[in-house]
Amino acid sequence: MSTLAIDGGAPVRSAPFPLRRLMGPDEQAALNAMFDRAEADGHGVFGYNGPEEEAYCSDFARSLGGGFADAVNSGTNAVWVALRSLELEPLGEVIVPAVSDPGGVMPVALANQLPVPADCAPGSYNVAADQIAARIGPRTRAIVVAHIAGSPADIDPIVAIASSKGIPVIEDCAQAHGARYKGRPVGTSGDIAVFSTMFGKHHMTGGQGGVVFTRDEARYWAIRRHADRGKPFGIENPTGNVVPALNCNMDELHAAIGRVQLAKLPEVVRRRRAIARSVIDACARDLAAVSVIDEPPQTEASFWFMLIRIDPARLKVDRDAFCAALRAEGIPVSPGYPYIPARSPWATDPRSYAPGLLASARTAPADWPLPNIEATDSVCMQLMFHEDWTQADADDVVAALAKVQAAYLK
Ligand SMILES: Cc1ncc(COP(=O)(O)O)c(C=O)c1O
Repeated sequence: MSTLAIDGGAPVRSAPFPLRRLMGPDEQAALNAMFDRAEADGHGVFGYNGPEEEAYCSDFARSLGGGFADAVNSGTNAVWVALRSLELEPLGEVIVPAVSDPGGVMPVALANQLPVPADCAPGSYNVAADQIAARIGPRTRAIVVAHIAGSPADIDPIVAIASSKGIPVIEDCAQAHGARYKGRPVGTSGDIAVFSTMFGKHHMTGGQGGVVFTRDEARYWAIRRHADRGKPFGIENPTGNVVPALNCNMDELHAAIGRVQLAKLPEVVRRRRAIARSVIDACARDLAAVSVIDEPPQTEASFWFMLIRIDPARLKVDRDAFCAALRAEGIPVSPGYPYIPARSPWATDPRSYAPGLLASARTAPADWPLPNIEATDSVCMQLMFHEDWTQADADDVVAALAKVQAAYLK
């Protein structure tokens, strides 16, 4: 057995993994063309709510099979706009995923609603209908469901229970561009879907960005109003701005990047899926104590990252020691996916909530038990990868997993 790198042996991987090259000459050409047009017509400024955004939003909606999209300036603001557009009765509760980026949950508190975290399904980073049902109460105003790591949550039973109670569902697809559930694009099952298009995602509009999507035209106009200072979009004979709202607009330059990027998304997803499939299958075939969380049945995950799970009963070390050994082998893993918003300092700080909201709570956000995700996260590692990885890169991950497993197997 070869000596682990953490014990002084040679690492499986000493060369860096490939850099991501999602943006390049195509995006540059699109922006140059805008500057050329601006130069030609003598109008040297770029605004917002213009032709580039209109084209980007209609391309985006078409990529989801039709509907209405509004481009905004971050995924966090997409969640915010979606929540505000529902015009929820204040001081209620919104069920949120146990695991999500802070930006997927903080807007709930800012919208004067109490975030109520639902646990994940056993062995998963996604919430499921049973766990959500256990949190629904008389003041539940909305449900936010995230498709973590590009793995589709089992959304049909969630939508079924929500619609039986008249509760709207927001699908947070920030990490799941291009994923499919029962053949349908992720984001087309709930009432509203939100996407982040910041630079780390499968599809981006530049450094920051986001999209709010709905299949319902009336809802779309509410989204537009709540994304842009209450301008009376979709209202006949307006007399002024109609709702208090922030300015969450995307601008024309970012929308132009997004149009180019959107055309690349299917290939990005195809390549990510191929890399992930190769690691998942090799682990299933060759490794007894290590696996990768697979895509759930009837779904096509788009794998924003992979979640590697160890079986501690078969190993002499815990997750943290296994992770440290893998890192020493040159593999870009980190322990778990540590975004459990209800366990964050802000969630326990009374100043995070509207006056009276915590006092009226059934249970404070931080006090809801989340045993499933805590158990799952304690044996998992996050492997960041991307579409520019090659088969050789995937093979190195598997070789390192095999090497570390061999050293630590009981
Ligand atoms: C699930 C989820 N929701 C919301 C966000 C917030 O998006 P942004 O970073 O674009 O504000 C992210 C960002 O990673 C996310 O992963």
